[in-house]
Amino acid sequence: MATLGETLRIAIERIVPGGDGMGRVDGQAVFVPFSAPGDLLEARLVERKAGYARAEIVAILEPGPGRAEPSCPYYGECGGCNLQHLGYEAQLEAKQGIARDAWLRSGGIADVGFDVVPCSPLGYRNRAQFHEGASGRLGYARRASSDILEVRSCPVLVPALRLWLESGAGMPGKAGKAATDGRFVAFGYGERVYLEGVDREATVEVGGKAFRFDPGGFFQSNLEMVERLAPAVCAGLSGERAADLYCGVGLFAAFLREGFGSLCCVEQEKRSIGLACSNVGPGAAFAASRIEEWTRSPQARARFDYVVVDPPRAGLGAQVRAWLASSRPERIGYVSCDPVSLARDAGFLVKAGYEVESASLLDFYPQNSHVESHVRFRLA
Ligand SMILES: C[S@@+](CC[C@H](N)C(=O)[O-])C[C@H]1O[C@@H](n2cnc3c(N)ncnc32)[C@H](O)[C@@H]1O
Repeated sequence: MATLGETLRIAIERIVPGGDGMGRVDGQAVFVPFSAPGDLLEARLVERKAGYARAEIVAILEPGPGRAEPSCPYYGECGGCNLQHLGYEAQLEAKQGIARDAWLRSGGIADVGFDVVPCSPLGYRNRAQFHEGASGRLGYARRASSDILEVRSCPVLVPALRLWLESGAGMPGKAGKAATDGRFVAFGYGERVYLEGVDREATVEVGGKAFRFDPGGFFQSNLEMVERLAPAVCAGLSGERAADLYCGVGLFAAFLREGFGSLCCVEQEKRSIGLACSNVGPGAAFAASRIEEWTRSPQARARFDYVVVDPPRAGLGAQVRAWLASSRPERIGYVSCDPVSLARDAGFLVKAGYEVESASLLDFYPQNSHVESHVRFRLA
């Protein structure tokens, strides 16, 4: 293997979680940002660790078949997108590969057939966090840095947000947390742009239902995909009792309410659970609690027909997994933004007596390597 700073020849095999391409040199894995499966590269070694190394592209000797011209002038500098150098089909293939590999390595589960739900490759993103740049213009965090890259446009934003950014928008005028931190969230919907620190509340429609949320709090960032995800999480299911854990403002609960006699919604953010009460409406119970604590509550001792979990990137904690294994709901709907933690949890659930009923990859983040999954488990 070359020493640091030296160049090496490397053939890229696949894209790994995080978006880098991976090849092998002398049997050791080498990760190369902005590379594509099938590339033959000349690359400079920039980091060596036990078991792996990192390199940067010096020259593309032979391009892989999925390469495409990036559509954004900031690509490579901006910390947002990391797969624009692949055509959209190649991005979807890469994400299936990431998911399959994660399920095998972290879950010990082979041969999962994923349904792939594609999205508009550009102009899809309703929600983005902006930072104030040195000149006062807005921007994003630079790649691998906390510095700000000022941008005049961004092709993945929905039209309202893109036009707002292109109009030279600056930091929201009103003082408040968002303005003082030098960063804030903007949410574009229809022709409107909602700003954290200015608009206390936004309202959107999903599947014919209205959802109120705080633009500075959590709400899904791709409504085109949410229109597909939210009904799918609840489709064809009914019974006596369901739970929506990590419920945010009640996105899934609002759909679950129709099929289940009783419904528990649990979320740690007080403002979100307050909004969930109004979004879901009467007939459900709401707990402002960490899920880990809720699993020890009397409410959690009931028998559930269906439990939906939508945890943050780390996936389910050991306590939540143990609760699922002992509570044994007939079905579990798992919405995940991290294929590796999902695969670990899937491995646990399969050992605990569940089987995978269906698995989908919903492309919430075209041009980026994030993989969003929806998996339904049922008792085997
Ligand atoms: C990925 S979001 C999903 C929200 C909702 N299901 C949706 O689709 O809009 C995860 C949510 O879990 C909440 N959360 C994270 N960790 C939690 C925990 N340990 N206990 C309870 N809620 C948690 C966050 O506040 C956030 O609202």
